[in-house]
Amino acid sequence: MELSNIKVPNHVAIIMDGNGRWAKKRFLPRIAGHKEGMNTVKKITIAASDLGVKVLTLYAFSTENWSRPQSEVSYLMGLPSKFFDTFVPDLIKNNVKVVVLGDVSQLPDNTRIAVRNAINDTSSCTGMILAFALNYGARQDILNAVNYLIEHHQGESVSFQELSQSLSTGILAPYNDPDLVIRTSGEQRLSNFLSYESAYSELYFTDTKWPDFTAQDLIEAFNDYSSRQRRFGGITEETE
Ligand code: FPP
Repeated sequence: MELSNIKVPNHVAIIMDGNGRWAKKRFLPRIAGHKEGMNTVKKITIAASDLGVKVLTLYAFSTENWSRPQSEVSYLMGLPSKFFDTFVPDLIKNNVKVVVLGDVSQLPDNTRIAVRNAINDTSSCTGMILAFALNYGARQDILNAVNYLIEHHQGESVSFQELSQSLSTGILAPYNDPDLVIRTSGEQRLSNFLSYESAYSELYFTDTKWPDFTAQDLIEAFNDYSSRQRRFGGITEETE
């Protein structure tokens, strides 16, 4: 594949799905899929940064994932410390800055501390932003923004810009909205992920399960994205 012809999206958001099925196929417990999924996060973060992505948002834990068996929730909650303990030096070396979307106040103490340390340790990095959606749900995020705006606007109407800034993706400005949303493992839905921000995103679905997803698959997704005509509801020369 000719890399020079590829349009690299500024903001790529990924629904990392299929860890459980990946493990089941290998007669392994579901958490083995999550562990392998964490290794894929490392590879894809570096690949995205090398390719020139400005923001990589990863859906790591949704507001609905609390309903999974306690043992799985507890393993998932331990992943951020496992990840950051070993990977922050690589993030710094690659100038990658960590941020979090979602309500971290409800996470267990050690998860919150690991996340806070990673944010602090990478705060002066100026390259790609790696945004972890942790205890994130788009509806909850929109509701929080609406309540915040009601409290601070004294009955005045609100602009799209103010609404965008009040969502947790406000910290990603000017790349609040994903250009490309990728979902692995064959499911074709957004599952409460960036519902407002993805209004004009290109969607890319692949059957590959997240633990098997490689840098080459990311390039393949960018290649597909490069062929899309983004019209944002308008028209282009081709469609006139
Ligand atoms: C969906 O697969 C995946 C998740 C709910 C967890 C995603 C988490 C990771 C990939 C690791 C994150 C790493 C860090 C650093 C926080 P699933 O379990 O729903 O798979 P299934 O649909 O096959 O059951």
